[in-house]
Amino acid sequence: MNLRQRVENEFRNRFGRSPEIIVRAPGRVNLLGAHVDYNEGWVLPAATEQAVWLAAAAVDNGVVTIRAIDFDGAEATFSLEDLPPRDNAGPVSWSDYPRGVAWVLRNAGCSVSAIDVVFAGDVPIGAGVSSSAAVEVAFLTTWNAMGRLGLNALQLAQLGQQTENQYIGLASGIMDQFASVHAAENQLVLLDCRTLQHELIPFPSQTAILVADSGVRRELANSEYNVRRSQCDEAVALLRPHLPHIRTLRDVSLDDFELNAHHLPMLLRRRAQHVIQECNRVLNGAELLKRGDLTGFGRLMRQSHMSSRDLYEVSIPELDLLASTAWEVEGCYGARLTGAGFGGCVVILSEACAMDRLAEKLHDAYRAVHSRSPRIFHTRAANGARVMAS
Ligand code: GLA
Repeated sequence: MNLRQRVENEFRNRFGRSPEIIVRAPGRVNLLGAHVDYNEGWVLPAATEQAVWLAAAAVDNGVVTIRAIDFDGAEATFSLEDLPPRDNAGPVSWSDYPRGVAWVLRNAGCSVSAIDVVFAGDVPIGAGVSSSAAVEVAFLTTWNAMGRLGLNALQLAQLGQQTENQYIGLASGIMDQFASVHAAENQLVLLDCRTLQHELIPFPSQTAILVADSGVRRELANSEYNVRRSQCDEAVALLRPHLPHIRTLRDVSLDDFELNAHHLPMLLRRRAQHVIQECNRVLNGAELLKRGDLTGFGRLMRQSHMSSRDLYEVSIPELDLLASTAWEVEGCYGARLTGAGFGGCVVILSEACAMDRLAEKLHDAYRAVHSRSPRIFHTRAANGARVMAS
């Protein structure tokens, strides 16, 4: 049974009627552009085939009831009359994401309908492939359609980001939600995170995307993510007296950085160097892809990983092992950590015919060191969120 059938069946069993709407919202992998979105730079994600599926129908009691198949059928219920901000003292729970979406929508002046919901997904949870953005975008798409709110794609992505920033308490950028909303089949999304303009770049044929999940999980909201973001702001504040035109690290050219890096303490110098060089890698990488130079593109993925490891310091040994093992396999173009880091997944770009070989080598190398297997799966650049039936 596929996920769509599972959520439809479960909805009928639990609520005793048919759903009125079925929504799909994908996760994402980011091929280049680590930690540059909140610096208003460029990123190059694709939505994944793996997605969250949601079945819902309206109710008239002012209450939202949600069953999460992936959490052993756990249920959450909340009244739309009473939607306080999140209690930041507690750990983030799965139900905080839909609750946060309702809270953000209501604060934006949108009416939120009372609904019964069942949802499930095959995006690995908390693994850097945007399971939370997929949930947010699935609920946003549902409430937008059911309440005829008329929100456009960009507004949906922005509301998803606000859910993270204002409700969950993670100062994340817009990449994940933007990709989940705007992606298109067999395309990569080149997004300028300042102007929020994007360009779709055809995904090269005969090429595959593999994802290797280290199985290491870190609670993103409790991680170093927010610290990295403030370090970038600090670097800008220290550079601005010397480079008055800059607003974010995106505005610092490689030459200007070389001339002014000595104004920064060593730690901030490393952080800024990563972001500034990574911005250039994304723009160069997009050009290489358009020219079909996958070897050149893969080299940039590798540099991106090394920079995330050495300069931005968001990698862990498990991710380094997966990436460096992939680099050595014939037919692999490139591999790097995807998402925030500190755990989660490596994304690998390879010749389609090299996938099995890669998976085998990754299993062997990982087992030898960590005595367990990584979870390896294939994905395709998929469509963004859609109402699949209503
Ligand atoms: C997480 C955040 C994104 C982005 C990446 C790092 O996925 O949600 O906004 O910053 O980390 O590139």
